[in-house]
Amino acid sequence: MTDRLTIRRPDDWHVHLRDGEMLAAVAGYTARQFARAIVMPNLSPPVTSIAAAVAYRERILAALPAGSDFIPLMTCYLTDHADADEIVRGYREGSFAAVKLYPAHATTNSAHGVTDIFALRGVLEAMQAAGMPLLIHGEITDRDVDIFDREAVFIDRILAPLARDFPALKIVLEHITTADAAEFVRDAGSNIAATITPQHLHLNRNALFDGGLRPHAYCLPVIKRERHRLAVRAAAVSGSPKFFLGTDSAPHAAERKEMDCGCAGIFNAPFALEGYLAVFEEEGALDKFEGFASEYGARFYGLPLNEGTVTLERGGVRVPERLAGLVPFHAGERLAWRTV
Ligand code: DOR
Ligand code: ZN
Repeated sequence: MTDRLTIRRPDDWHVHLRDGEMLAAVAGYTARQFARAIVMPNLSPPVTSIAAAVAYRERILAALPAGSDFIPLMTCYLTDHADADEIVRGYREGSFAAVKLYPAHATTNSAHGVTDIFALRGVLEAMQAAGMPLLIHGEITDRDVDIFDREAVFIDRILAPLARDFPALKIVLEHITTADAAEFVRDAGSNIAATITPQHLHLNRNALFDGGLRPHAYCLPVIKRERHRLAVRAAAVSGSPKFFLGTDSAPHAAERKEMDCGCAGIFNAPFALEGYLAVFEEEGALDKFEGFASEYGARFYGLPLNEGTVTLERGGVRVPERLAGLVPFHAGERLAWRTV
């Protein structure tokens, strides 16, 4: 049995670091485990300009623990009024690593999101020509569609036509939750990839109602039935470079989740690597972990692989009930591995 695992330093290709006091409370957890992260732009107001991204990056760097060499990779929040020139200029000069598409009203701070992506063809053409990735929250927002079907319906109605119309556009379908998404990405061209969160590997939808209503298992896209969890797990451990690590760590104060109409989001940053590694071990795929965590994402984004390594060892760690006033994923549980 392997008791120690050393891998190239990993990256988180999808994280919410927030701003202000919350940023100060959470940034260190991500920076401790990851060399770089794709930082989501759904602040209030959202990050829609180069100037806003540059200023936000400065606030993130200021919030890091002393000596940290963590690199935040910034994203541009796509709106109906997006300016193709600003977006591509931001990409070329290194201020934006990607653009994030939130369908309007799909999730937290998405009110300024896109009402009709097909009205933004000029922007998508410019991104395609520049090689700039489009990161997609893949849920249809039509309230007539069952919430558990919103990802699959999004793929049919939006993503498949988009991929057909922009055959060279780099797309990351974020935080996939269904067999439909895993299959779509697997069968698509090499320009289409997906991120996978720890919670969608660990939980099925029973966890939302386990002895009572469980707000800390609530995120968007919502966790799905077991069949889908197994398909997402199979994709994660498949060794395909199309599937890579993106935690979607999304902190909300505990009282903002434990309320009538609680917020969506799971704060998984503190023990993200340990959580993922548990899954790879259960699937007998420890040898596939490094590619998923440290290689495929960087390659997709066209960025160099990190220097340096991290080591995890068996021996376990107990996840605290609270960290910085937040309830972390796996609160109160023991995980089999710990980061050295
Ligand atoms: O659960 C989620 N929380 N899903 C998202 O898409 C957004 C995120 C947040 O910002 O809280
Ligand atoms: Zn997210």
